[in-house]
Amino acid sequence: MRALIVDPDAPGSLRLGTAAEPVPAPHQLMLEVRHISLNRGEVAFAGQRPPGTVHGHDAAGVVARAAADGTGPAAGTRVVAFGAGAWAERMVVDTTAVAEVPREVDLADAAALPMAGITALRTLQSRSILGRRVLITGAAGGVGRYAVQLAALGGAHVIASAGSAARAGGLAGLGADEVVIGLDGIDRPVDLILDNVGGPQLAAAWKLLAPGGVSRTSGGRPASLPCSSRTRCSPSVRPRR
Ligand SMILES: NC(=O)c1ccc[n+]([C@@H]2O[C@H](COP(=O)([O-])OP(=O)(O)OC[C@H]3O[C@@H](n4cnc5c(N)ncnc54)[C@H](OP(=O)(O)O)[C@@H]3O)[C@@H](O)[C@H]2O)c1
Repeated sequence: MRALIVDPDAPGSLRLGTAAEPVPAPHQLMLEVRHISLNRGEVAFAGQRPPGTVHGHDAAGVVARAAADGTGPAAGTRVVAFGAGAWAERMVVDTTAVAEVPREVDLADAAALPMAGITALRTLQSRSILGRRVLITGAAGGVGRYAVQLAALGGAHVIASAGSAARAGGLAGLGADEVVIGLDGIDRPVDLILDNVGGPQLAAAWKLLAPGGVSRTSGGRPASLPCSSRTRCSPSVRPRR
């Protein structure tokens, strides 16, 4: 089958090639892949994967063969999937890692959901956001656009930070109460930061946290933060002690 395969000698460390047909375990279904989604981390760090790996995690398509153990959807069901080896004509995936796609949802739209959507959801679930001021950096990106919508649906006051005015388009329509460039114009403390950028911007945003506030980063550039007994840093940042 055709697949996007890790190749350190190819541009971006990825090439279109052929791979062996995947073999499902009893708890896995076989998916006929119709659409895939690319995420920043997968593309940026493809070269760190073993050569020959079929790359990618997000796909949507039609179940070609149901799982042998009887779990999950039947053959012919339209599903979105999250698993290794998604950027190929076929993938095998655990039945616990797929969801049926409603008839009115386009499969191409569904393919964009898993990694970015789950990252945004899990990060926002770290605390109650109802009525809270939530700052989302990198809001124009994949994770950021889901986070803006989910935070607005959750009843937060959403401050969406983009890198430029050109990239900020559409964020108000997704539910942002304030749209800022960088951190310009944020004049009151925030209760939760969902950071997608890292680096100096995260360090600057950290100073905007209200007492008891929480900052969660999804893994952007390393940041140096002034951690103390009053402040706790999440594991994915590199604190300065
Ligand atoms: N841990 C996980 O499971 C997980 C899962 C998914 C993603 N991630 C990480 O989360 C981050 C966001 O992922 P993504 O898929 O949303 O990426 P993305 O679509 O490329 O979005 C990243 C956003 O960051 C902004 N940005 C980058 N550098 C910036 C800078 N110097 N100043 C201001 N803004 C800057 C960009 O803003 P503009 O568009 O405004 O220029 C862009 O929209 C990445 O670091 C990714 O690796 C982690």
